[in-house]
Amino acid sequence: MKITIFGTGYVGLVTGACLAEVGHDVLCVDVDESKIERLKQGIIPIFEPGLETIVRDNFNQGRLHFTTSAREAVEFGDVQFIAVGTPPDEDGSADLQYVRAVARTIGEAMTATKIVVNKSTVPVGTGDKVRAEISTALAERGLSIDFDVVSNPEFLKEGAAVNDFMKPDRIIIGTTNPASEKRMRELYAPFNRNHDRMIVMDLRSAELTKYAANAMLATKISFMNELANLAERLGADIEQVRIGIGSDPRIGYHFIYPGCGYGGSCFPKDVQALHRTARDVGYNAELLAAVESVNDRQKVKLFDLIVRHYGGQEALAGKTFALWGLAFKPNTDDMRAAPAREVMAALWAAGAKVQAFDPEAMEETLRIFGQRDDLLLCGTRDSALKGADALIVCTEWKAFRAPDFALMASALKEKLIFDGRNVYDPKRLAEDNWLYYGIGRGLSISAR
Ligand SMILES: NC(=O)c1ccc[n+]([C@@H]2O[C@H](COP(=O)([O-])OP(=O)(O)OC[C@H]3O[C@@H](n4cnc5c(N)ncnc54)[C@H](O)[C@@H]3O)[C@@H](O)[C@H]2O)c1
Repeated sequence: MKITIFGTGYVGLVTGACLAEVGHDVLCVDVDESKIERLKQGIIPIFEPGLETIVRDNFNQGRLHFTTSAREAVEFGDVQFIAVGTPPDEDGSADLQYVRAVARTIGEAMTATKIVVNKSTVPVGTGDKVRAEISTALAERGLSIDFDVVSNPEFLKEGAAVNDFMKPDRIIIGTTNPASEKRMRELYAPFNRNHDRMIVMDLRSAELTKYAANAMLATKISFMNELANLAERLGADIEQVRIGIGSDPRIGYHFIYPGCGYGGSCFPKDVQALHRTARDVGYNAELLAAVESVNDRQKVKLFDLIVRHYGGQEALAGKTFALWGLAFKPNTDDMRAAPAREVMAALWAAGAKVQAFDPEAMEETLRIFGQRDDLLLCGTRDSALKGADALIVCTEWKAFRAPDFALMASALKEKLIFDGRNVYDPKRLAEDNWLYYGIGRGLSISAR
């Protein structure tokens, strides 16, 4: 099938490359000229395991094309995917300007029947807005061309996006039009061979399903962070509690890791947008508000521990902190709403310096913060420790799990760790005379 994808970000590029990988003919379009230029040269703008190979292979085999020409893009695909960003607006609702712009472009340029598939995460009712935008543009041209709008929310996880797309848990299709359903079944048939993963529902339910999934996952995290803060005060170890409750299959082990808060481009903005949607229809979604505020509090947790340890913010001036992990989670270079950003901002405001390392997000950090005197980006995990007063862990990259503690002890001024992801064993560290602060680990506190 001939497919156009608007937006070559985390979702658009993965979708385009994976659809090309199974044999479709895909054209990816973006307004960012330098991104498209780099993609044509085989340079992938983001770090996503496995993506580079399939982009290059399919580009070289002529099944994956890139353009900045919206007109060419609309002309190309019978199916037009919208995979542009939906960042939070000032009031927390989803900013739909990019989605609407694409819809308008399609209406302004289409000359034949199209199925428009919305893959961006959008509030319930956006499908209708996309439909209206296209109809208006067509009417302005004095044309009446058949088209349909389908919802197809994306559930891929950054860091495992290619695998998630190739082997999805489910493919949600929001449409009540049998012809559109048939086309979507054809499009996704290569991903559906093992068993039917397609769940077809009405468009609004499909739009809400995406928010429901992210809100549920964010709720699990905030719930555990709430319990972690309680455990800390009660002298319990949240890590043991986690294992204790995860063994119940009704609860499960996934997404119950306490830590220094969730970040990324999805959970914070989607919880906020769903809360805002609820308000717009006269419903006070108290649980969503709590999920958000628990997370906001959790993101300053590490800094609070640091301040508490040193006995006040004033004591941080002139100190240097080694920081491991800048990306919002492992296996990505995405730093949108990453907890590390808040930790660094608070340390800088208090007059401290940061020596940071991340296996993939160094370039992104430089792009965001530029060169500054209070940020030293270090080439290796261990070089970030040199002469620092303490280590802060913000992201649980595998490479941080088994460090050389003896080397760390000699590189740091003090044997002091603030662990925002509970990567280390407090008992073992206490035996070795480390001062260790984790999240919700009463044991470590009593060991001190
Ligand atoms: N990142 C994820 O893990 C993830 C997962 C599921 C769903 N989503 C949702 O998917 C959507 C896209 O997210 P993302 O992370 O890929 O965003 P992104 O910011 O990485 O990429 C968006 C791309 O769209 C391009 N763009 C903007 N306007 C355009 C236009 N008019 N024509 C063509 N291109 C245009 C931008 O230049 C950018 O390259 C969002 O709604 C997001 O909530 C994201």
